[in-house]
Amino acid sequence: MEINKIKLVEKAIDAQSKAICPYSNYPVGAALLTKNKDIIIGFNIESKAYPTTLCAERVAIFSALSQGYDNFIAMAVATVDGGTPCGSCRQIIVEFAGDIPILVADSKQNYFETNSLELLPKPFA
Ligand code: THU
Repeated sequence: MEINKIKLVEKAIDAQSKAICPYSNYPVGAALLTKNKDIIIGFNIESKAYPTTLCAERVAIFSALSQGYDNFIAMAVATVDGGTPCGSCRQIIVEFAGDIPILVADSKQNYFETNSLELLPKPFA
């Protein structure tokens, strides 16, 4: 299926602008594309009890799953510096989305493409 990568990256950047990250000041946005071309977004949400913070990627996947979506074909992630998903998010991406393309964008809206299994080659399955 044709994936509109620019649109997905733009959605992740838009989500990034909504991040709740008063402690780190490191906003992250994620946009998850479903097989039916719906886009579910997520952003990092930080708590006063910092370890309970949730990353943008997991917010997007858990939000999508809780809304009944279960077939994901791509994800875009937007960070300031092109930072890639953390280990916990890599596990959740592989586990619930499989080996999908991951587009990682920076604040200049440049992005590079990787995929779930390149980020986490030997996931716990
Ligand atoms: N963060 C994400 O949202 N995704 C990642 O994959 C790595 C880190 C968030 C968590 C925290 O709110 C901030 O970035 C700094 O670690």
